Amino acid sequence: MSALILIVLGLVFLLLSGLWLIIPALYGVPWVPTRDKRIRKALQIAKLKPGETLYDLGAGDGRVLILAAREFGATAVGVEVGPIQCLVGWLRIWFGGSRQKVRLRCGNFYKANIREADVVFIYLTSAQISRLQDKLAEEMRPGARIVSIAADFPNWKPNEVDRESLIFLYAMPPLSGPST
Ligand SMILES: C[S@@+](CC[C@H](N)C(=O)[O-])C[C@H]1O[C@@H](n2cnc3c(N)ncnc32)[C@H](O)[C@@H]1O
Repeated sequence: MSALILIVLGLVFLLLSGLWLIIPALYGVPWVPTRDKRIRKALQIAKLKPGETLYDLGAGDGRVLILAAREFGATAVGVEVGPIQCLVGWLRIWFGGSRQKVRLRCGNFYKANIREADVVFIYLTSAQISRLQDKLAEEMRPGARIVSIAADFPNWKPNEVDRESLIFLYAMPPLSGPST
């Protein structure tokens, strides 16, 4: 009987860790969280203000959303495809007391409506942000900002670059020109 319980627990563990790792990887990027210090710097560079709405496309465990709400007074919306990341994010939001200002949707960000965003935060691969470029240009309002960790957009000139932390800022409409 106890051997059966151990086998079941082992299978559950394998299933959960498989979902944790495999789903994000299938969508083109593993789950790699951004450190709080770098998130804070990115949101400062984006000049995120109280009352503004931040979107994190590929929100992982919701850490960017929670920090944006707590420290910057923003409303924060995340879209995340990994089911286990969503579950962990929902628990963090619920038990961390941020649920008035933070929403995390489990789904594909290419299909999300991001028109209400004042700031979009992304930490994705170059291939993914190239694929997102037209959607961002079409849906984001003039004056809205994109802050990208580690990867820059092809053919858009960033308004600001923090080379130490590799953070790129773009204000809409984007400046055309060579990337960095
Ligand atoms: C590098 S992690 C960044 C997580 C979080 N933004 C942070 O900075 O800590 C990228 C996340 O994007 C998610 N992701 C990748 N493609 C996605 C898609 N098409 N729709 C929604 N989420 C996606 C992955 O599951 C992963 O959690």
